[in-house]
Amino acid sequence: MAEQAVSNQSSNTQNPGSADLDELIAEQEKIFVERQGESRRMAARADRALAGGVTSSWQITRPQPVWLSHGKGSKIYDVDGTEYVDLHGGYGAALAGHGHPAIVEAVRGQAALGTHFAQPTPAAILVAEELTRRFGLPLWRFANSGTEATMDAIHLMRAITGRDLIIKVEGCYHGHHDSVQVSVAPEAEEVGPEHKPAQVPASTGIPRAITDLTLVVGFNDLDGVARLLDEYPGKIAGMIIEPIMMNAGIIEPEPGYLAGLKELLHSRDALLTFDEVKTGLTAGPSGATGVTGVVPDIICLAKAIGGGVSVAAIGGTEEAMGHVSNGDYEMVGTFNGNPLAMAACRAMLCEVATPAAYERIDALRQQAVAGLQQAIDASGLPAHVVAVGAKGCVVFSPEPVRNFRDFLTIDDSYSHAHWMYQHNGGVFLPPWGKAEQWLISVQHDEADIRRFTDNFAALAAALRP
Ligand SMILES: Cc1ncc(COP(=O)(O)O)c(C=O)c1O
Repeated sequence: MAEQAVSNQSSNTQNPGSADLDELIAEQEKIFVERQGESRRMAARADRALAGGVTSSWQITRPQPVWLSHGKGSKIYDVDGTEYVDLHGGYGAALAGHGHPAIVEAVRGQAALGTHFAQPTPAAILVAEELTRRFGLPLWRFANSGTEATMDAIHLMRAITGRDLIIKVEGCYHGHHDSVQVSVAPEAEEVGPEHKPAQVPASTGIPRAITDLTLVVGFNDLDGVARLLDEYPGKIAGMIIEPIMMNAGIIEPEPGYLAGLKELLHSRDALLTFDEVKTGLTAGPSGATGVTGVVPDIICLAKAIGGGVSVAAIGGTEEAMGHVSNGDYEMVGTFNGNPLAMAACRAMLCEVATPAAYERIDALRQQAVAGLQQAIDASGLPAHVVAVGAKGCVVFSPEPVRNFRDFLTIDDSYSHAHWMYQHNGGVFLPPWGKAEQWLISVQHDEADIRRFTDNFAALAAALRP
């Protein structure tokens, strides 16, 4: 297959000075569709075989899904033969990049030795020991996706306390099981008062009886949690939270917030779960737990820990996981600790996500942030950059974002224009607008980041207010 880097910059440079955003989007959509004939044909065929023409509803990109052929290093290639710098990272899972030799060797080696037994294999112990070293929790189990990990964490908090209610944060996403499909991305007219957010089902098919059990609070709102604990004494099992929010751009916890949560919840015999499915190895070698220094009762990991293979982990304190050890809560799954997943996970933790890799990522993140900020300063675009570890995003607002209500006020059109502009310029960002963020892998280099920041500078110039 012919591999080519696209460049839309010839057409972009036809937009000097200020440009109407809608016009720019329309022009970029036209370029996008015209250069992806094979994807269009695939999408039409897939419509007859796959529900909605894709394999997960969040693979539907506007104006049409992008079908990929393969990935190599820091790049991915679509079925039209176009090369992209991959900053999508498979929604934050591809920290290893693509075809990393250590992952390939681990998977190939294990495939030859058998891919499934439903009995434990030695790699599971190595992985658990390494997770303990990084995250400070002594006992681990495995699952297959972030959804399974957070589902187990919530079952466990309920099993330990014998209580039904849980608290989640407005705007946090924890996967697609019922208990957490509440107030994930509610509309402004649905959210209710800030001091008592509404419990909004995130999808059809979620029973009211379940949403009633999931209490909602704003991010960075410690008083809100105290109010709920007072309102429902002895009824709340615990709280689940993305310790650094990463499904509403990136929203960082204020100093003292996470430590305050832990103290408050423990004072009422309730538990704290960190959903580190996204932040896991990407916010740093020990995730948000390492960045913030707060170790919760339970941690959920998935995405990047498998080096691109589907796997999840649930870690806990002796006390929490004791309820698994003694059989009180049966944490089960045919594919839990699957040997292929464990082999990939071991290679990821021990050979890929090394101190040297994080140093390299830190330098690339600094390059990205500096390049983007320079373009913002030069154009006067009302935007700012937030970046943590291998992740980052442009927030198209001059104001800092403290919680989901602030995030709701941001116009998503800018992010869509940005996504398409980058795509037409040979950089694949995650497609879901302002909610998502980039991922720098261990295989990216300075030229990749330059392509990204150059595209952004051209967009910023085209949007100059
Ligand atoms: C923070 C967080 N938790 C859980 C999940 C669910 O993970 P999965 O899609 O592997 O089920 C996601 C997915 O994006 C996530 O971002």
